[in-house]
Amino acid sequence: MRLTTSTLLLATLARVSTAQFARFVPPSDSSITYRVNVPASTANSGSGPIFFQITGPSSKQWIALGQGQRMAGAHIYVVYADGKGNVTVSPRLGTGHIEPQFNSDARVTLLAGSGIVNGQMVANVRCDNCLQMANVRATDSRSTWLFAVKDGDPLDSTSTSAEISQHDNNGLFVFDLTQATGGNSANPFVAAAPSPSSARTGTGSNPTSNPSGAPSSPSDTAAGNYDSGSDSESSGAVSIVVTDTARMLKIHGILMGLAFAVLFPLGAIILRLLPSPHKVHIHMAVQFIAFILAIAGLSYGVMLAEDFALLKNKHPVIGMIVMGGLFFQPIVGLIHHWLFKVKGKRTILAYIHTYWGRALMILGIINGGLGLQLANNTSGGKVAYAVVAGIMGGTWLASAGVYYARGGSKAALAAREAERKETASDGENGTR
Ligand code: HEM
Ligand code: HEM
Ligand code: HEM
Ligand SMILES: *[C@@H]1O[C@H](CO)[C@@H](O)[C@H](O)[C@H]1NC(C)=O
Repeated sequence: MRLTTSTLLLATLARVSTAQFARFVPPSDSSITYRVNVPASTANSGSGPIFFQITGPSSKQWIALGQGQRMAGAHIYVVYADGKGNVTVSPRLGTGHIEPQFNSDARVTLLAGSGIVNGQMVANVRCDNCLQMANVRATDSRSTWLFAVKDGDPLDSTSTSAEISQHDNNGLFVFDLTQATGGNSANPFVAAAPSPSSARTGTGSNPTSNPSGAPSSPSDTAAGNYDSGSDSESSGAVSIVVTDTARMLKIHGILMGLAFAVLFPLGAIILRLLPSPHKVHIHMAVQFIAFILAIAGLSYGVMLAEDFALLKNKHPVIGMIVMGGLFFQPIVGLIHHWLFKVKGKRTILAYIHTYWGRALMILGIINGGLGLQLANNTSGGKVAYAVVAGIMGGTWLASAGVYYARGGSKAALAAREAERKETASDGENGTR
């Protein structure tokens, strides 16, 4: 008897060892975990069932996973307590920023291992037509998903169309489904499911060194692992790659905001106000650094826009125009500076560099505001951006005004001429 159970268990583990999960833990709430598995047969044939698992504390009224790029059009699976120690999975269709309604087309089955144990809700789900309904390829390396969660008392409803109220937290993320492919188990979660009790402690994570033979739990200290962007669940059998959209957005916003609202204006202010003969070189260096940060930020912006089908949106379009236009700015600046040194006077390039640069920088600063709007950033975030951009942009435009008030390029040329004579006579003095 003992022997058969452990043989069975070993067989299960062996089978599961080929099952892979893509895992997502929201950076804003590490108590929740989503896992997705695409069985090998589904990946090979291009259609068939997928498995997903939703776990989180029972202090959540509901926890949802969705396929899509935003609420509108998303295929959503909401999990809540059924009042009998188990959970209800409610398939729904998102139509906008309103309560998603029951989707009778979805073929979802709650599997063994589901339930509410020790304050943890676990939903192990097989969905026979999720990929097809959402029109997602089984091998999509950048499939887009949504999550949302609501705190509160249990709904305790077995109805799949229970009334739910708006989330406290939501977000978007990307799964590489090729990293979620493997296994042909009828329930890949039976061995890999976090047994709710050990999930939080993170023990018993290695099945081979787990003497009790209890179902192994991936150590769910995901918040810590998370920073690497990818991690392997410690069962050794499961590898997870997650692209964290929230973090990509943050990096994009910070890099772009730093470049356009802080550094580009700073470089222009330095050029006009710094009483130093090196101001052109400092301007050059600051603008170069800003440009490099902006190029790095751009790559995140393009990925986000591609994933969430936003490339034709106002913000990305203006952003790409600005970044494309900036490409010539350092080149024109350098040639202008070089000609200036050779000829001792400004060429048309100075005007091109100055006015082109101003137009793009102003457009870029405004575009940051549009980005915050697009990303639905908090009003605090918007105010912070407006204050920083306002102070830096205002100081920059004022410094340009000061420059013209002082006589603009004529005064600058005269000063430069005087400087040159001085250094020249210094040199003469030196050699005599
Ligand atoms: C009663 C039900 C719901 C209501 C009234 C509602 C309402 C809203 C509203 C007003 C927004 C925009 C403001 C914000 O970001 O908070 C939003 C965004 C969002 N909601 Fe919901 N929601 C509901 C259910 C759900 C469910 C079940 C999901 C499951 C995944 C979800 C996922 C999202 C996501 C990912 C966003 C951000 C992307 C987007 O704007 O579409 N929502 N929702
Ligand atoms: C992406 C990179 C750059 C940007 C965005 C940029 C932007 C600007 C802007 C906006 C101004 C006018 C400042 C004002 O409002 O009064 C300016 C002036 C100037 N820039 Fe740049 N710049 C860049 C790179 C360079 C480089 C690489 C050089 C090479 C030395 C350079 C040299 C100059 C000079 C000499 C001026 C003064 C033009 C004049 O008034 O005669 N810039 N730049
Ligand atoms: C002048 C250049 C740009 C600036 C200053 C800028 C700035 C920003 C900022 C501040 C945010 C909000 C970040 C947050 O709320 O955490 C944002 C969001 C975003 N940006 Fe940009 N960005 C620029 C160019 C671009 C480009 C070229 C693209 C794509 C081609 C792009 C795509 C996006 C997307 C897709 C979002 C968020 C969408 C969402 O979450 O719904 N941005 N941007
Ligand atoms: C919850 O329901 C599923 C599917 O019917 C079942 O396999 C599982 O054992 C149930 N869990 C509990 C704790 O009753």
